[in-house]
Amino acid sequence: MNQDTVARGATVRDVRGTGEESGDRKDAARRKFDRWAVSYERDRRSRFNARLQQEALAALELESDDRFLDVGCGSGAAVRAAAAVAQRAVGVDISPVMIRRAAALASEIANAEFVVGDSEALPFPDGSFTSLLCTASFHHYPNPKRALAEMARVLERGGRLVIADGARDILTARIADAILRRLDRSHIGLYRSDELAALLRGAGFTDLNVSTLYGGGYAIVRGRRSTNVERAAVREKLDPQRGERRARELD
Ligand SMILES: C[S@@+](CC[C@H](N)C(=O)[O-])C[C@H]1O[C@@H](n2cnc3c(N)ncnc32)[C@H](O)[C@@H]1O
Repeated sequence: MNQDTVARGATVRDVRGTGEESGDRKDAARRKFDRWAVSYERDRRSRFNARLQQEALAALELESDDRFLDVGCGSGAAVRAAAAVAQRAVGVDISPVMIRRAAALASEIANAEFVVGDSEALPFPDGSFTSLLCTASFHHYPNPKRALAEMARVLERGGRLVIADGARDILTARIADAILRRLDRSHIGLYRSDELAALLRGAGFTDLNVSTLYGGGYAIVRGRRSTNVERAAVREKLDPQRGERRARELD
C-alpha cells in the first residue's frame, strides 16, 4: 500500500492493486470521472450536484468526534467541509485523477485524507468510521448490495450513513435513466427512493429517513447501522433482554 503526503495537509493513498478486479463498467466510470475531474466543482453540472451534496452532508449532522468517510468523493468538497467539523475526514473514489485533484484542493487541511479505491471493496478496517456519505455515486455501482455491505462493515455499530442520488420517483428521471442505461457504460441505474431505503434496510441499517428534492428526482436516505442488540432482537424476534444476551454472544 503506497502512502504519499500531499503538501502540508491531506494525504493520499492508492490501493487499487489490492482491490478485486474491476469490471468494464467500473473502468468506464473511472475513465469518465478521470476526464471530468479537471472541471469538477466549476462546471454547471457539478455545481448542480453540489446542492444535493450539501443537503446530504447536513443530514449527517456531523460532530467534533466523528470519523467521516465520503464514498465516491469526487474532488472532495464534502471532505473539506467535514474536516472543519469532524476529527478525521476521508474520501475514497475509483478515479485517480479525482483523488489527485481532491488532495490538491485539500493540501492545507491536516485531517483530510484521500484514497483511490472501489466502493465495493473499501480499503479500510471494520468499524473505522462513525459517519458515511455517498452522493451522486451510487448509480454507478454494479453490485449495490456489496457496496452497502462494505459501507456497513467500515462503519462502527450505530454509525450514521446518508446516501443521496438521482431517484426514479418521477417520469422525467425514469426517462433519463433509461437513456443513460443505453448510452453511458458507467451508468448502472437509478432506484426509486423506497427501493433505496429497502436496500439499506436489507444491509442492516435502521432508523431510516427518506426525503426527496426536485419533486422526487433526487432522494436523500439516512440510516444508522444497527447495533448487535437490535439485530439480534429483529432476527430472532426476542425480547430486548434476551436480544442483549444474544448480542453479547455475537460480539
Ligand atoms: C458524479 S460524481 C459525484 C462526486 C461527489 N460525491 C459529488 O456529490 O459531487 C460520482 C463519483 O463517483 C465515483 N465512483 C463511481 N464508481 C465508483 C466506485 N465503484 N467506487 C468509488 N467511486 C466511484 C466517480 O469516480 C465520481 O467521482
